[in-house]
Amino acid sequence: MKVLLLGARGQLGSDLRLGGVAHEIVAPAREALDVTDAGAVRGAIAAARPDVVINCTAFHNVPLCESEPELAFRTNGVAVRDIAMACAERNVRLVTYSSDYVFGGDQTTPYSEDATPHPLQVYGITRLAGEHAALACAPEHAIVIRTCGLYGAAGSSSKGGNFVNGRVLEARAGHDLEMASEQVVSPTATTDLAHATWQLLLASGTTPGIYHLVNEGACSWFEFAQEIFALTRSRGTVRPVDRGARTGAMRRPRYSVLANTRARALGVTLRPWRDALADYVRTTWPEFA
Ligand SMILES: NC(=O)c1ccc[n+]([C@@H]2O[C@H](COP(=O)([O-])OP(=O)(O)OC[C@H]3O[C@@H](n4cnc5c(N)ncnc54)[C@H](OP(=O)(O)O)[C@@H]3O)[C@@H](O)[C@H]2O)c1
Repeated sequence: MKVLLLGARGQLGSDLRLGGVAHEIVAPAREALDVTDAGAVRGAIAAARPDVVINCTAFHNVPLCESEPELAFRTNGVAVRDIAMACAERNVRLVTYSSDYVFGGDQTTPYSEDATPHPLQVYGITRLAGEHAALACAPEHAIVIRTCGLYGAAGSSSKGGNFVNGRVLEARAGHDLEMASEQVVSPTATTDLAHATWQLLLASGTTPGIYHLVNEGACSWFEFAQEIFALTRSRGTVRPVDRGARTGAMRRPRYSVLANTRARALGVTLRPWRDALADYVRTTWPEFA
């Protein structure tokens, strides 16, 4: 399979590359291809002639999206539309990612793919716009993958790394932390998401539409941090704190656990979040093996 990979330097993009050695991957750097330049996107797809475009780009610093809504909409909405249109014109499959933040967090059981979105902040609105644009402009080609709480070896430059690495550093230093206990999520290793993405692309029954892909299970950010402190045998402690699911005035979903319903039906499954986290910590810091 020939793949044009956008956002290859990010944490998911890096793991897609590592796990995609069986494929021919063209991965232009951001400096060579800005996805908000529709003409450049069209030109890159025409030049690469891929079977699939995988779009890992996003503007996903959630608080920053509130102060820069136009850039958020351009990257997460308009660019996704332009990529989808170019894919549909050239009969190229498209995989593009979205977020648990399209949901409002009122449920107490995992959200399935057909649950009704209700974004609470600019970021979620722009992701929902991108989903609709991809499926409207490339209805026969687009796969939209919603995921949650990603961490991977490369880290996310726009988020200053990833949650796990940050907590491991604090745990090692023996710090005491306060962590939000009111937001329940499905943290996901990008190694596992990358593997599941390749499986989904290769599965014979995969049809266009929305798929959820997250590590199985759920935890609050407090429980997630607590597990990191346990794995690293930290002297420090983690205390739960209820921040009202807000960052300043911006609201976050209290519960955004995703159910991998459609992928599981195709035989694509991910392991429980605790197993993926333990693997990541022990691989990244062998001293904790
Ligand atoms: N991280 C999470 O917790 C999380 C949760 C739910 C969903 N997701 C979604 O999953 C996907 C992958 O996330 P990730 O954590 O792997 O992201 P990431 O590490 O932040 O990587 C994003 C990549 O996109 C590139 N990029 C951003 N804007 C661009 C533009 N205009 N043109 C070209 N490249 C651009 C970035 O370049 P630079 O490196 O130069 O910035 C970076 O390489 C994204 O759609 C993300 O929103 C992530």
